[in-house]
Amino acid sequence: MPDFLEAGTAEKLLEPQAAVEEKTFDLTLRPKRLAEFVGQEKLRENMDIFIEAARLRGEPLEHVLFYGPPGLGKTTLAHIVAEELGVNCRVTSGPALERVGDIASILTNLERGDVLFVDEIHRMNRVIEEVLYPAMEDYALDIVIGKGPSARTVRLDLPRFTLIGATTRLSLISSPLRDRFGATYHLDYYSGPELAAIIRRSATILGAEIPPEVAELIAARSRGTPRIANRLLRRVRDFATVRNGGRLDRSTAEEALRMMEIDPHGLDATDRRLLETIIHKFSGGPVGIQTLAAAVSEETETIELVQEPFLLQLGLLQRTPRGRLATDLAYDHLRLPRPKRDADAD
Ligand SMILES: Nc1ncnc2c1ncn2[C@@H]1O[C@H](COP(=O)(O)OP(=O)(O)OP(=O)(O)O)[C@@H](O)[C@H]1O
Ligand SMILES: [Mg+2]
Repeated sequence: MPDFLEAGTAEKLLEPQAAVEEKTFDLTLRPKRLAEFVGQEKLRENMDIFIEAARLRGEPLEHVLFYGPPGLGKTTLAHIVAEELGVNCRVTSGPALERVGDIASILTNLERGDVLFVDEIHRMNRVIEEVLYPAMEDYALDIVIGKGPSARTVRLDLPRFTLIGATTRLSLISSPLRDRFGATYHLDYYSGPELAAIIRRSATILGAEIPPEVAELIAARSRGTPRIANRLLRRVRDFATVRNGGRLDRSTAEEALRMMEIDPHGLDATDRRLLETIIHKFSGGPVGIQTLAAAVSEETETIELVQEPFLLQLGLLQRTPRGRLATDLAYDHLRLPRPKRDADAD
């Protein structure tokens, strides 16, 4: 059996995080210029002006922070900014910056106008953050020479650079750091037509012909997330290659998605299990997130970051002060009889 048909693959299929072997694929499909970037209309307009203004003034761009759920295009945008400005893009991440020396050597090697992209900036430690404050604000690096009473601080000038930060967790970024960004952009889930456009674009790059209705079919199951859309496209195309001589028609796509256990709303087996657990084990809720996570053996963070936003958006789940609640729609979706609620009694 080809591995895309193996039981259990559905779990990983709808994870918005990129798998390791997926990185090259991500890279091939990544738009290089702002004009190729689909959707996020408002953000694109704003960025266009922001970049153009810096270019006209001949000044480096102010620091930019992108935040939003995984797989929506933060890394892509960081690279696009550098490309549009015609500058180098140095890439690092919060967890990779362990010691002051790490960040110091990166900063001192930048050229004027360069982009320094710090992914997962919410996972940066405090010491590094302290080094970044004067670097971002005054383009200066304060280094301590010597130890004890004879120690002194020397200030090094840095070239004017642009720091681009990306995070999935805005709330974990300290306010002094947040304040040092000239612009903060929020990425939101994509609409069906936007995802379909991304799928058609990716299919063209992969040399696959895709009827518009098939692109729409896949788009509807992509949870508003381009990375998932591209991943499903790839799997459906594999399936068509093996089963249908490479033709990506509607019934082949439907069959492929059915075998991946992804339902028409884009829910996978993991999502359904989460809802079923709330319904069967906790009488529909409310149930605290920790208890729920333990019951389905998932990380609290995965539930909060990956499953919950999507289920909330579809109206299948509700967040209350006392915990998570399965809505009537969730019962309908799972074809279970709706529960009798107290409110119904009056
Ligand atoms: N607006 C878009 N148009 C076309 N393709 C897109 C768009 N946004 C994202 N993609 C595609 O989705 C993939 C994932 O995007 P990207 O890596 O930029 O997401 P991210 O927000 O950085 O995710 P993470 O939080 O996991 O780092 C990329 O390969 C890119 O091809
Ligand atoms: Mg990224």
